Amino acid sequence: MAATTVAIAADHAGYQLKEILKRQLEDMGYGVLDLGTNGPDSVDYPDFGQAVAQALVARQAIYGVALCGTGIGISIAANRHAEVRAALCHDALTARLSRLHNDANVLALGARVIGEEVAKDCLREFLGTAYEGGRHDRRVAKLS
Ligand code: RB5
Repeated sequence: MAATTVAIAADHAGYQLKEILKRQLEDMGYGVLDLGTNGPDSVDYPDFGQAVAQALVARQAIYGVALCGTGIGISIAANRHAEVRAALCHDALTARLSRLHNDANVLALGARVIGEEVAKDCLREFLGTAYEGGRHDRRVAKLS
């Protein structure tokens, strides 16, 4: 596994936020696996949720970031894989709790729902928080 690589993907609605979060990841010292999309032309979010999931399953990245307009479609797509726990987060608290309690491995964000600074907060918190384990282990195991 690429120990410090984060996979990131977005549909057209999330494309601009993807570019911003890519720079943040690079500034934080992470390797970035950019799975597209790479422009504003309309694409289908399931393809990009699937791409993030496959990168995690193939151990090409430790975490994924998935972006669409609401974050809903792309998180549903990513969560169709048993190894993926994609959390649709709206603020630093939900991002932190998704790691602490759910051991989330994909951060999903809605680019049309939250602003750039909140998205950056979410990413910082997500990557900076360790899974708590303990009482959560049994519940997380049941997810798969
Ligand atoms: C695209 O218009 C939009 O439907 C998509 O980005 C996302 O919000 C779906 O869940």
